Amino acid sequence: MTTTYNERMEPLNKKLTIVGLGKLGGLLAEAFIARELILPKDIVATVRHDERAKMLDKKHPFPVHTDNRAATSDADIVLLAVKPQVMEGVCETISPSVSKNTLIISILAGVPSAAIERFFPGVPVIRAMPNTPCAVGSGMTVLCRGTAARDDDVALAERLFDTVGRTLVLDERHMNAVTGLSASGPAYIYVILESLAEAGVKLGLPRETATLLAAQTAKGAAEQVLVTGSHPALLKDEVTTPAGCTIDGLLELEEGKIRVTLIKAVVKAAERARDLFTEKS
Ligand SMILES: NC(=O)c1ccc[n+]([C@@H]2O[C@H](COP(=O)([O-])OP(=O)(O)OC[C@H]3O[C@@H](n4cnc5c(N)ncnc54)[C@H](OP(=O)(O)O)[C@@H]3O)[C@@H](O)[C@H]2O)c1
Repeated sequence: MTTTYNERMEPLNKKLTIVGLGKLGGLLAEAFIARELILPKDIVATVRHDERAKMLDKKHPFPVHTDNRAATSDADIVLLAVKPQVMEGVCETISPSVSKNTLIISILAGVPSAAIERFFPGVPVIRAMPNTPCAVGSGMTVLCRGTAARDDDVALAERLFDTVGRTLVLDERHMNAVTGLSASGPAYIYVILESLAEAGVKLGLPRETATLLAAQTAKGAAEQVLVTGSHPALLKDEVTTPAGCTIDGLLELEEGKIRVTLIKAVVKAAERARDLFTEKS
């Protein structure tokens, strides 16, 4: 389901604890509040450092502190948003305060749901892989369910992430591929957008104009793929007039090995996701 960012949602009336209010945890909290899906009074979050907790507590309309156990004792949903390397210590700390009525949603890259479940026997766990465009309501989140998660747990997680973009439920074996493609993907697209805008600047366009042309073009092309369901190659052919300009541009892309470079970038990121969990901080 896709909604516009300003659209109001039916409140969930659930208490949400975000363990690790970093970039992703923070942007998700802000989006849930902006949509009124969860009210600030029902959110609490934690970080590691006292100073950051104080700063974030002032910034956000919900409490932020460093006591993971206290923050999770009363939660309906615990969103685990720390780095994978600190996951074990955090789970050990909060496991006594999490009940079987709590839904744990982990957004940790590369961490299998079984590794989380080990600390929370019988507690429903859902693994989610969102991306940063969730901040503007155009995210892509993939969910997979742990062994104790029921259909209504999946439905609840879908409702949360539907507020910030599209949501898809897949088998867990796909999660590293998802991490390399849609979670890391925005970074690749930004590099492409930056490069297209630089080209515009090289050709004399003001930078702001060049960036707008690049970003709106990328958005339009992506929208066309999503709306028509056409294969990108067919849509590319429609732009490519025989002996026209585009084919010359495409030949440059082929010479620069853009396809193999992008494929290798996604594969490398997926491999890194696979290795993250085994790495200790
Ligand atoms: N960035 C992305 O695009 C993206 C996409 C999908 C999934 N993810 C996943 O999302 C997770 C967070 O990524 P991020 O980019 O948001 O990282 P981040 O900005 O570094 O945030 C991590 C947060 O965890 C906090 N933290 C560390 N140890 C803690 C502890 N013991 N108790 C409570 N909080 C603790 C940190 O607190 P301090 O600020 O005090 O250090 C920080 O606020 C990662 O597992 C990542 O794999 C990220």
